[in-house]
Amino acid sequence: MNKDLGNQLFKINAGDIVSLQKEGGNEKLFLVARAEKTILGVEIEKSQVENSLGISVQDLAEGNIEGGLNFDKLCSLEASELRKVGKVKLNFLEKALRDLIKHLSMVYYNNFRKQDKKTKIPASGKILDQDDLCNLIDASLDMWLTAGRFAEEFEKKFPKFLGRKYCALVNSGSSANLLAITALTSYKLGDRRLRSGDEVITVAAGFPTTIAPIIQNGLIPVFVDIDIGTYNVNVEQLEKAVSEKTKAIFLAHTLGNPFDVDKVMEIANKYNLWLIEDNCDALGSKYRGKFTGTFGDISTVSFYPAHHMTMGEGGAILVDNPELYKIIQSLRDWGRDCWCPPGKDNTCGKRFDWKLGDLPYGYDHKYIYSHLGFNLKATDFQAALGLSQLKKLPDFIEKRKENFNRSYKGFEEEGLDKFFILPQWLEGAEVSWFGFVLTIKDDAPFKRKELLGFLEESGIGTRLLFAGNMLRQPAFVNSDFNYRAVGGLENTNKIMMDTFWIGVWPGINKEATKYTIDKFRKFIDVKGWR
Ligand SMILES: Cc1ncc(COP(=O)(O)O)c(C=O)c1O
Repeated sequence: MNKDLGNQLFKINAGDIVSLQKEGGNEKLFLVARAEKTILGVEIEKSQVENSLGISVQDLAEGNIEGGLNFDKLCSLEASELRKVGKVKLNFLEKALRDLIKHLSMVYYNNFRKQDKKTKIPASGKILDQDDLCNLIDASLDMWLTAGRFAEEFEKKFPKFLGRKYCALVNSGSSANLLAITALTSYKLGDRRLRSGDEVITVAAGFPTTIAPIIQNGLIPVFVDIDIGTYNVNVEQLEKAVSEKTKAIFLAHTLGNPFDVDKVMEIANKYNLWLIEDNCDALGSKYRGKFTGTFGDISTVSFYPAHHMTMGEGGAILVDNPELYKIIQSLRDWGRDCWCPPGKDNTCGKRFDWKLGDLPYGYDHKYIYSHLGFNLKATDFQAALGLSQLKKLPDFIEKRKENFNRSYKGFEEEGLDKFFILPQWLEGAEVSWFGFVLTIKDDAPFKRKELLGFLEESGIGTRLLFAGNMLRQPAFVNSDFNYRAVGGLENTNKIMMDTFWIGVWPGINKEATKYTIDKFRKFIDVKGWR
């Protein structure tokens, strides 16, 4: 590089507006940023600059550029040919560079990610688009890393969507479940707190981390059977399970299908029990016009990729009671008493004026612990993805419903209900299904293993109803957990043997449903079973 050119390059700074006039050509204006060795420019219209700065472009002044930037007019410039004529504010340049990066990420997405072709029909999956990629990149550019502005925004927007007051974002649905039950053990709840040895009613036909936190908190799970078809708690047995020691009910809306909210709430109210709704598989389902996850004292959500919307890993815990919310935040954030968000101090205004526990007066509130807590916070990357996904959630929910209805109709039309118990739901339930759940009838001439092997070979993904019967899992069989079961859990055992589900997630289309149903029909017909 010659010396003059070096000097010129040095004189052009990030955020400058420069003029370039080639011999015989029109004058062009660019907003520039410094790349490592070159100058990058985005061409801008003269009128944009004049309008924005309100002065002649010849004057040096600081301003913004009206009307946005056209990143298709991006080029590399020769410093020696440029004349500085203006300057934008640095925060404008910062936003412009962010927008440029997001623009390029969309170019990348549209050339590569969009063309991912699926040859299989998975039982579950995530739907991501260019907005998700942009949000992830936006969060990366902040380099904030922990929970920050995106998490704060998500915690405001998500409860509004459902119609709840408070949301604490966490790193998984399992963490949300752990926090939900642990929060109920807080001394801050006085007489209503759960104590070691108290009973919590649940089902064994479900996901392990609905059950695990009960035991992890020294409480006793009481298992009740489910109904085949809805796969939800049998409400007659639920009431029979209540004892002197019962303090809470912890139930999932199985595969999105709302449990009998009326009856469960009636029992909870009658015996003064806490109700936790594990809404991890049911985001968007409604019961009598109200979203599931808004009935219980606490509800939980998962954002794992198989779920209705995703953060990769992520979860949320929702409540209306401000006292419970404070306890949950404390437990999530190391057990601390202080509620400042990461990176902020003294939001209580008396950081060095507290007297709590047996600590000396003035002990820094940041380091006062009112609970034995965890650190279950999510990062801003997760929250940023959650925000872009949340915009698409209503559409995801509709697609799941459509896919479910198409499968249901197809199974009926093909007479497959002769071999399978089709899903059932309660009057008043509007289901945002997690999967299309089937149970092989007792008199069917085939076994689940044989059918699932055939479907697997045909590229159709299947899943079981999670743990089947949790009590039969090695985690239970090889330990001596204290628990109680009401009756023989016959239906729970039946689903462990004969139930499975296939996908209804938004990535499934008409062709996939048709192909799936054709394969089920072939499996039956080839063997001459009808
Ligand atoms: C009913 C239910 N609860 C809790 C969870 C746990 O969620 P996560 O995978 O986010 O920990 C799941 C996971 O799929 C689930 O299905």
